[in-house]
Amino acid sequence: MVKPLMLCGNILDFIGNPATMGEQAVRFFERGAVVIIDGKIAALGEESIIAPKYPDVEVKRYDQHLIVPGMIDTHVHFAQTEMIASYGEQLLEWLTEHAFPTEEKFADYEYAHKIANFFLDELVKNGTTTALVFGTVHPESVDAFFDAAKARNLRMIAGKVMMDRNCPEALQDTPEQSYLDSKTLIEKWHGVDRLQYAVTPRFAPTSTPDQLAAASALLQEFPSVYMHTHVSENLNECQWVSELFPEAQDYVGVYEEAGLLNKRSVLAHGIHLSDRELKCMHSHGTSVAHCPTSNLFIGSGLFNLKQMQAHEVEVGLGSDVGAGTSLSLLQTYNEAYKVQQLNGNKLSAFEGLYMATLGGARALDLEGTIGNFNIGCEADIAVLNYNATPIMQTRHAQAKTLHDKLFALMMLADDRAVTDTYIMGKAV
Ligand code: GUN
Ligand code: ZN
Repeated sequence: MVKPLMLCGNILDFIGNPATMGEQAVRFFERGAVVIIDGKIAALGEESIIAPKYPDVEVKRYDQHLIVPGMIDTHVHFAQTEMIASYGEQLLEWLTEHAFPTEEKFADYEYAHKIANFFLDELVKNGTTTALVFGTVHPESVDAFFDAAKARNLRMIAGKVMMDRNCPEALQDTPEQSYLDSKTLIEKWHGVDRLQYAVTPRFAPTSTPDQLAAASALLQEFPSVYMHTHVSENLNECQWVSELFPEAQDYVGVYEEAGLLNKRSVLAHGIHLSDRELKCMHSHGTSVAHCPTSNLFIGSGLFNLKQMQAHEVEVGLGSDVGAGTSLSLLQTYNEAYKVQQLNGNKLSAFEGLYMATLGGARALDLEGTIGNFNIGCEADIAVLNYNATPIMQTRHAQAKTLHDKLFALMMLADDRAVTDTYIMGKAV
């Protein structure tokens, strides 16, 4: 057995949503200790109380740092890593100009594996330890991604894109082929180590009703797999969906009527949704991935967080790279804060870190497994440095309250502020 490990320092996590519970949701230990045994959280509390109970542990001390749960990216495309920051277009043109040509390269396992390794190294550098990830249409892209994630013992969810229309020939499958390829991947990967599969129709415009039916058949056959897609991101896209599916009630209705909504369904964006659509999502336990850097970068719109909260729809944060401009969930909070400022609302740093941790775990139906430091949770941990850069140091010296320290940290941080990331209790 490996010797137990105890991390000491400022420790912060959440036991609920600060948007509804206020500061009661915040769990903070100024001189805290978290003990890890066999990759899982074994104890949490004030060091003065915890340390005497664990005399024979390896101790790692983090002064001037904040220890938080590993962060959770609820929507990202690993195959778009290399075309991040591509100029000029909004969604539909951006897909044709930038995303699709890049994704064509992922028919090649070796290429996909190289990018997957790079992508996962970057995630871990940013303190992100779990993500819900789009592959490409090629099964090779998902094999490559899972091989790379397995080698790092990461908890990752991914799937092969299903798309059988309105995209380049080289990226098209068929309802039958997408069903068979997805099924093979589910049988090979779902539940292996910390890996899980997501049935991944790209979005309504690129799937025929027959293909959405094939996706639904997979969910019925394999009830514990995820469903991951996009919804209501861009107004031209929404208009297009209403033309392609004239019988559907609305955009969410397309997915609902196809039988694709449940508590393991995650819809990215959701910027232009009606109250009916949110009621529908709530009734199925379906979550939203909020991707502010992407929404601003490709000019999609301003996410209405209050509307989500009013309908009790769980919201996780997504980087949505390559339309998103950073893999850092700290930077993603930075932009989420500005989006809410433009909506006339305040998004506290507590709410932001909640969305990046426990909120993300809830959106992915993984509460109790990851997302906070409850006893028994997997010990995925990020250690953040308040003073990582000169400007952070200057600002931190002025900060008085925990919220002020956390807010300044999250607004100013990038991967330089992530001193260590632990995966199942191992520093990487
Ligand atoms: N909608 C359909 N595909 C995509 C994609 O690759 N990125 C984003 N941001 N939206 C999409
Ligand atoms: Zn996306």
